[in-house]
Amino acid sequence: MIMKKSALFALLLPLLAGCYYDSEEFLYGTVECMTEGTTYSTDVLPLIVANCYQCHDAANNFGGITLEGYDQLRTYVDNGELLGAIRHTPGFSPMPKNAPQLVECNIEKIAAWIAAGAPND
Ligand code: HEC
Repeated sequence: MIMKKSALFALLLPLLAGCYYDSEEFLYGTVECMTEGTTYSTDVLPLIVANCYQCHDAANNFGGITLEGYDQLRTYVDNGELLGAIRHTPGFSPMPKNAPQLVECNIEKIAAWIAAGAPND
């Protein structure tokens, strides 16, 4: 009887440990934020439109900066200002201006797209 119980415990232990590990990942958001498969058209563009176009579309190019259109956005990808601004890296103007920082997962999606070469996909 005792043998059976400990055998059962040994069987369950990895499962319990697995559950704990999963919930820890959940708490820290590594499972929630999926940056795989991020594309310009489905992820990056809607974020820029929603958070940046009121100041940086072609009509309202605040600070002389237009982010409307792939080629325009690409200029600020290539010079590092897009990532610097949304990450609030010292030395860049923190964006979006006068608004809360983008949520971490959205920043990571944009960063992943840039790391993949910022394709026009
Ligand atoms: C409320 C208006 C406003 C919004 C919203 C806004 N910007 Fe800006 N942005 C500006 C102004 C004005 C400047 C000129 C520099 C300054 O005044 O800080 C600027 C400058 C920049 C720069 C140049 C940064 C530098 O260090 O020179 C980048 C890149 C930029 N914005 C990207 C973005 C992105 C990306 C978003 C959306 C996530 C965004 N902006 C949202 C107003 C805005």
